[in-house]
Amino acid sequence: MSKILSSKWTKVFLFIASLAPLAYVVSRAFQNNLTANPIEYITHFTGDWTIRYLMFTLAITPLRNLLNQPKLTRFRRMLGLFAYFYGCLHFLIWSVLDKQLDPHVMWEDILKRWYITVGMAALLGLTPLAITSTAGWVRRLGYKRWQKLHRIVYGCAALGVIHYWLLVKSDIRLPLMYGAILTALLVYRWVVSMRKQPPAPKRVPVGVVR
Ligand code: HEM
Repeated sequence: MSKILSSKWTKVFLFIASLAPLAYVVSRAFQNNLTANPIEYITHFTGDWTIRYLMFTLAITPLRNLLNQPKLTRFRRMLGLFAYFYGCLHFLIWSVLDKQLDPHVMWEDILKRWYITVGMAALLGLTPLAITSTAGWVRRLGYKRWQKLHRIVYGCAALGVIHYWLLVKSDIRLPLMYGAILTALLVYRWVVSMRKQPPAPKRVPVGVVR
C-alpha cells in the first residue's frame, strides 16, 4: 500500500481521474446531449463535483491517521485544488452562461438569493487557500500560520453544504448526507486535537514544598 501511495504514477493517475468529470461533460456537450436545460445541467454537475472534492480533501487527514498511511497526505493539495477548479467552473457557468457576465444582474442575484450569497462566500473563502497552497507559501507564512489559515476550509465546506441545503426544494437527502460527513470529520478533528493537548499541570497544594 505504502509503495503505491509513494509512486509518482499514483499522483498522475489521480490527476487524470480528476479530469474525468470534465471530460465527461465536455464529451456530452459535443454530442449535444446536455438534457433539455444544458445550463442547469452543467451548473448542477459542477456543483456536485465541487462538494465531492471538498469532502475528499477533508477526508485525507482522518484516513491517513486511521489507516496509518502518512503518504496519503501527498494527494491532499491536488484534491483541494480540484475542489477549487470545479468551484470556479461552477461559478463561471453561472456568471457567463446564466448571467451573461452582467455585473448588475450578478450583484442583484448575490444580494437577493441567500444560496448564491452563501455559495459566493464559500468560493471566496477557498481562494486564499488555493493561492497559498504552494510550498513557497508554507515557507513564507511559517507552517503554524499556514495551518491555521487552511483551517478555513472547514468553514468553506460548511458554507458549501448550507448553499446546497438552501437551494434544494424538497429532497434534502444529499445536503443532509454531506452535512453528516462534514460533522463526522469535524468531530474526528476535535477528538484528535483534545487528545494532543498536554495534560493540565497537577495542582500543588499551597504550602507544600516538593
Ligand atoms: C464552494 C462553493 C460551492 C459549492 C460546494 C457548490 C455546490 C453546489 C451544489 C452541490 C449544487 C447542487 C447540485 C445538484 O443539485 O445536483 C449547486 C447548485 C448551484 N450553485 Fe453552487 N456551489 C458553490 C458555489 C457557488 C457559487 C459561487 C455560485 C454562484 C455565484 C453557485 C451557484 C449555484 C447555482 C445557480 C446552482 C443551481 C441552483 C438551482 O438549480 O436551483 N454555487 N452548487
